[in-house]
Amino acid sequence: MTEQKFIPRKYTNTIESGKVTWESPSNIALVKYWGKKKDQIPENPSISFTLNNCKTITSLSFSKKENTSDFEFEVFLDGEKKDDFKPKIETFFKRVEVYLPFLKYYKFKIDTKNTFPHSSGIASSASGMSALALCLMSIEKQLSESNVASGAVEASLNNEYFNQKASFLARLGSGSACRSIEGDLIVWGKNKTVEGSSDLFGIKYPYKVHDNFKNYQDTILLVDKGEKQVSSTVGHNLMFNHPYAQNRFNQAHDNLDALKPILESGNLDAFIQLIESEALTLHAMMMTSMPYFILMKPNTLEIINKIWTFRAETGLHISFTLDAGANVHVLYPKNEASKILEFIKNELVAYCQNGHYICDQIGLGANQLTM
Ligand code: DP6
Repeated sequence: MTEQKFIPRKYTNTIESGKVTWESPSNIALVKYWGKKKDQIPENPSISFTLNNCKTITSLSFSKKENTSDFEFEVFLDGEKKDDFKPKIETFFKRVEVYLPFLKYYKFKIDTKNTFPHSSGIASSASGMSALALCLMSIEKQLSESNVASGAVEASLNNEYFNQKASFLARLGSGSACRSIEGDLIVWGKNKTVEGSSDLFGIKYPYKVHDNFKNYQDTILLVDKGEKQVSSTVGHNLMFNHPYAQNRFNQAHDNLDALKPILESGNLDAFIQLIESEALTLHAMMMTSMPYFILMKPNTLEIINKIWTFRAETGLHISFTLDAGANVHVLYPKNEASKILEFIKNELVAYCQNGHYICDQIGLGANQLTM
């Protein structure tokens, strides 16, 4: 399947070499993406908070080459050569080549680093793939610059296309990466609730969001920093022939629909119920697949129970969500942050590996850097 809209016209500029840099954030899903079809098409819609502090910073250096039959690139993480990252990037390049025909005409050096520890169990694929997609878009922009008509209207349309194609490309690297280009709430996956939603790229949530959700906090408790037991690709495949798959996909549509009035009215109790149920459903899908997995650790459950008790005792709006791992994202509104953070430090950090946790909050998306 090729999307004509993202195949560029012939490039008008020739550039010998250059370097572009982007920083791109991670994101945390409220309604989860779990299950995909061919070509990275999600089985159900998802919606996420873009994060602010957990980011990947990627510089892409490029120079023209003679032999145009293969991709040529090297990858460095924190200055160290990482050949084990290459297969995933090679697959990504193959998938996006038709949309970025310059790929085989340059050799690339990908220099990347994360603001969070690599071995934190936090997936860097969303921030990493979105940062790389944005770097590639910046090169495409330079190659086509003279095509760009001047004037405010064209410029803004152009920016929209840039972000949309960046999200489209990022999706082909890692599904959730398409939700990391912009902020602060992003929807991916076609559905009836959100107008303009698409399976091909993420869009900004276009409806009213109550002030309760502005600067929403996410404290990430690092329960288990080890390698993931189940890679997300293997995980998504578990939804094939899963006995509850179709109900789960329908439920994600229903939950997104239910979230709209919650986001508008600022009903935090309803919000908490919905996102915690989503997190536990994600893990329930893993526990009931064949083969089956338990990705939560005893400390994950300790934390969840502590959160529930504290919430019942104080009436504060502390809640949790989970990724496909043991770490816990503790979500809460900004105006309750001081009491909740005190509770986290006093009661929850003890369950983290080496006492490690990361304070983050909802953010506005990726930025290009000049360096
Ligand atoms: C549980 O985006 O990592 O975090 O498309 O195979 O790269 P691939 O999967 P990935 O899956 C993320 C799944 C999740 C839920 C979510 O972020 O929506």
